Amino acid sequence: MEIIILTTKKEVYAEASSRVVDWIHKKPDAVLGLATGKTMLGVYKDLISEHKKGRVDFSSVKTINLDEYLGLDPGDPLSFHSYMDQNFFRHVNVEKNNTLIPDPLPEDVETECEAYEEAIRDRGGIDIQLLGIGRDGHIGFNEPSSSLQARTRVKTLTDETLKDNFGSAEGPRFAITMGIGTIMDAKEIILVAVGKGKAKSVSQMVEGPITASCPASALQLHPKVKVILDSRAAQLLKRKDYYMWVWKHKNEVEEHHLLYHKK
Ligand code: GLP
Repeated sequence: MEIIILTTKKEVYAEASSRVVDWIHKKPDAVLGLATGKTMLGVYKDLISEHKKGRVDFSSVKTINLDEYLGLDPGDPLSFHSYMDQNFFRHVNVEKNNTLIPDPLPEDVETECEAYEEAIRDRGGIDIQLLGIGRDGHIGFNEPSSSLQARTRVKTLTDETLKDNFGSAEGPRFAITMGIGTIMDAKEIILVAVGKGKAKSVSQMVEGPITASCPASALQLHPKVKVILDSRAAQLLKRKDYYMWVWKHKNEVEEHHLLYHKK
């Protein structure tokens, strides 16, 4: 895991957005795995501003969202369909046909979940997956106790997640979500967390054991994960100084490694 600790939220969003932009410059038809939540709003704002400045073109990009509440109309303001449209899609030149979000009203949920997995494969897999993290360590809607190998399926949300997302435990209780196994297939993963409310789940994810009690800890097994944090979200990390040293000396570290590469 590469742990990047920055001072402000703004720097965090800019760093995450520049990783996405880099992928699109390298591969104009990149497949982006997208997340929702308050944290992602900052990343989307940054991507929109890069697009408006003419620095990134989404016309060939494909997007695949992590999850969606089950039973909501796609037009419901609480749905992730609405969230994505309002906060990202309508502000950039992504083609509607190139976007994918689980159907919140499927005829048959198992068929929908299998079709979702197939759709990811048909697009050649996810190049870069954006993730936030829940206070209980969830990624997507993989709540604690989720299988670390699961694929797309329906999950029951915890009271804590409902309170975080809706202010009370009264919101939609079920969601279709990519599984941890699905997420782990992405070529690169960027997890973004800001604020002291995330400090505990971040420390468990990065420095705790790999356990279904903190689903995000499975990311320790992924070869290319960047965890981008502000100083508040990083405050409980024990090896914070080490991560900060590596990041600060990144160029020197890379140059040093190059010395030992065959020309
Ligand atoms: C939701 C989403 C997650 C997201 C999490 C954190 O539960 N399903 O993908 O990471 O919220 O959201 P926030 O950034 O609002 O804390």
